Amino acid sequence: MCSTSNLELVKSLGADTVIDYTKENFTHNGDTYDFVFDAVGKISASYAKNSLGKNGKYITVKSPTKDSTENLFLLKELAEAGKIKPVIDKRYSLNQIVEAHRYADKGRKKGIAIN
Ligand SMILES: NC(=O)c1ccc[n+]([C@@H]2O[C@H](COP(=O)([O-])OP(=O)(O)OC[C@H]3O[C@@H](n4cnc5c(N)ncnc54)[C@H](OP(=O)(O)O)[C@@H]3O)[C@@H](O)[C@H]2O)c1
Repeated sequence: MCSTSNLELVKSLGADTVIDYTKENFTHNGDTYDFVFDAVGKISASYAKNSLGKNGKYITVKSPTKDSTENLFLLKELAEAGKIKPVIDKRYSLNQIVEAHRYADKGRKKGIAIN
């Protein structure tokens, strides 16, 4: 799910179906899902509830998690195997860190790299 300007990007990352949240409310399209992952902190459990199938699961980046070194190594392995593809739309040097934060705070970034 993304806004109109990111539809092609999300499709290019391998999504079979992409919902434009500015045009369609996924909780009212009649579909149910095995998994709703709120990756931005915009969707509550109660909002997603009716879209989950019988054993459907909801998770959100807003829930505290136990970070472990094991998980970080798993992410490293997945990145090295090309199974995680980082999307970077802007690059900044360290002395542009204020500008980088201003861009990040707009809530529209795709991915920022600091070189
Ligand atoms: N970035 C970090 O280092 C960091 C660290 C700790 C916690 N967090 C938390 O993680 C969450 C996400 O932060 P973030 O920095 O990754 O992203 P963000 O800057 O908050 O959001 C940017 C992305 O969210 C999409 N987006 C905005 N509204 C949306 C909506 N209603 N539905 C679906 N997508 C939407 C935007 O795509 P469109 O332009 O297509 O809408 C854009 O690609 C936040 O709650 C933040 O507090 C972030």
